[in-house]
Amino acid sequence: MRTQLIAWTLGWMVAGTAAASPVATINEHTHMGVATCASSTCHGSTQQFKESNVWQNEFARWQEYDPHANKALQALQSAEGQAISRKLGLGDATKAKVCLDCHADNPPSDKRGERFQPSDGVGCEACHGGSELWLTSHADKGVAHADNLARGLYPTEDPIKRAELCLSCHMGTADRMITHRIMGAGHPRLSFELDTFTWLPEVTHYEIDEDYVRRKGEFNGVRDWGIGQGIAAANLLETLVDPRHGWDGIFPELVLFDCLACHKRMDSGKWAPRPGTGLGPGIVRLNDANLVMFRHVLAAVDKGAAARIGEKTRALHRATTQSRDATASAARGLVSDIRTLLPKVAANDFGPEDLGPILDSLLADAERGEFRDFAGAEQAAMAASSVVVAFETMNALEAGKADMLRARIDALYTKVEDENRFDMGSFVAALRDLRRAAG
Ligand code: HEC
Ligand code: HEC
Ligand code: HEC
Ligand code: HEC
Repeated sequence: MRTQLIAWTLGWMVAGTAAASPVATINEHTHMGVATCASSTCHGSTQQFKESNVWQNEFARWQEYDPHANKALQALQSAEGQAISRKLGLGDATKAKVCLDCHADNPPSDKRGERFQPSDGVGCEACHGGSELWLTSHADKGVAHADNLARGLYPTEDPIKRAELCLSCHMGTADRMITHRIMGAGHPRLSFELDTFTWLPEVTHYEIDEDYVRRKGEFNGVRDWGIGQGIAAANLLETLVDPRHGWDGIFPELVLFDCLACHKRMDSGKWAPRPGTGLGPGIVRLNDANLVMFRHVLAAVDKGAAARIGEKTRALHRATTQSRDATASAARGLVSDIRTLLPKVAANDFGPEDLGPILDSLLADAERGEFRDFAGAEQAAMAASSVVVAFETMNALEAGKADMLRARIDALYTKVEDENRFDMGSFVAALRDLRRAAG
């Protein structure tokens, strides 16, 4: 008994603070297949059910509008997808595990029920988890959300868990890795922001209403933006120190670095330092966009912590010019700080008074030349949008003001439409306009 306890404790300590990966959790139980969710009295209704807690037309919406259903797997069949996998020597992309892991629901063969169809694409259970133990019980009267979770329903409502899940496909994690070689073969660059992506209309089959809050707790879009940034930053650093993924031969895995630090025209005239990195110009730098954003999240939570994360980010950049060991140790320190701060962000009640400080913090960076790198500017645009929309949803903005701010956000987005034509000066001007309009 005693030795068992020690072994268990040791196992837990080795696993460290990182709980089971989202991929392991999703694939823990058998996937019964989308067909088992799709009956018209379950989630396959054509109309929203008025008297039900959930819409019950989730399947119809997913099938018709959601790119997870109608584009993810098709991308592998497309000429573009086939060309990528051919160049990588993977043969047919629709049979390649590395592609299917992100473009479909791809549980191991012993976790596939009779009605599971690989051709369903990113189906319900790719996000909600294998339904083997909860399928028949989850809609029974008197079954609480907690009971479903205990039977293996994935906690998609928990922003930390949701971020980990979405990022496993939208950024790449140790379990589902996207590499510079895959990008070189023609794969689009990935970018993600938790709050923006959760609410893009093509994927929504849920809404926050009274019964939602009763069942699953309060919703706060600014908080979700903040948590998404923290988890993405931690994911970058954890991948960097992972011996399987951080390195490719003598080089670090380039997908973790700023693409445009290398990919620019020789006559682009962009030879200039970026202050937040503490590095001179001409140095390949980590893609720290999420780390930079997490600092802005903290501007509204804990200013001291924001400054510390900023200093440690600079130290990490410096370490990448020194040695592999120095980099790993700086990355580990930073991950541990982020993981410690995340619960504080999760518990923070972001309110209307935080709009100004967050926009100020973004603008101060912009004025200092921090968004010289496109990836940072792109995240800053999504941040500004997410924050404004969140405060609008809280009814914290007057009607006229909300419209005005939305127009400024649209203008800001046009500045990050094309990474090859990105101009920092006009991006900063657009952000300044937005800040002024926010009052
Ligand atoms: C880490 C997860 C991940 C892996 C691995 C991955 N993809 Fe993707 N792929 C994505 C995501 C997410 C998108 C959507 C990007 C966006 O638009 O935001 C995408 C987009 C694409 C597109 C463009 C689709 C479109 O609609 O424009 C193609 C083609 C594609 N992937 C093919 C492949 C192939 C072939 C492989 C295997 C060699 C592969 N992908 C591996 C996540 C991944
Ligand atoms: C890309 C991931 C993803 C896929 C695929 C997906 N969902 Fe969801 N689902 C979510 C998220 C995120 C939420 C909202 C957060 C929450 O409350 O859990 C959600 C919420 C729900 C809810 C709860 C709404 C509420 O008010 O509590 C139901 C029911 C649901 N999904 C059913 C389905 C069905 C059925 C399918 C397949 C046809 C499906 N989902 C596919 C991510 C997904
Ligand atoms: C199993 C992998 C997987 C998971 C998990 C996943 N996605 Fe996706 N998602 C994809 C792929 C692949 C695409 C691209 C489909 C295409 O356009 O070809 C995509 C597309 C999208 C799009 C459309 C993007 C665009 O540029 O129009 C949104 C929005 C999105 N996902 C949101 C989410 C959210 C939110 C979550 C987490 C709740 C999530 N996804 C989880 C694989 C995944
Ligand atoms: C350290 C420098 C460096 C970084 C950082 C980097 N790349 Fe590359 N990239 C290269 C080199 C070197 C090649 C190979 C060029 C060749 O084979 O001639 C390449 C090739 C490519 C190609 C193929 C280009 C072609 O002409 O076929 C694409 C696409 C690409 N990278 C995308 C990316 C993306 C997306 C990122 C960021 C996620 C990125 N790269 C980050 C150095 C880099």
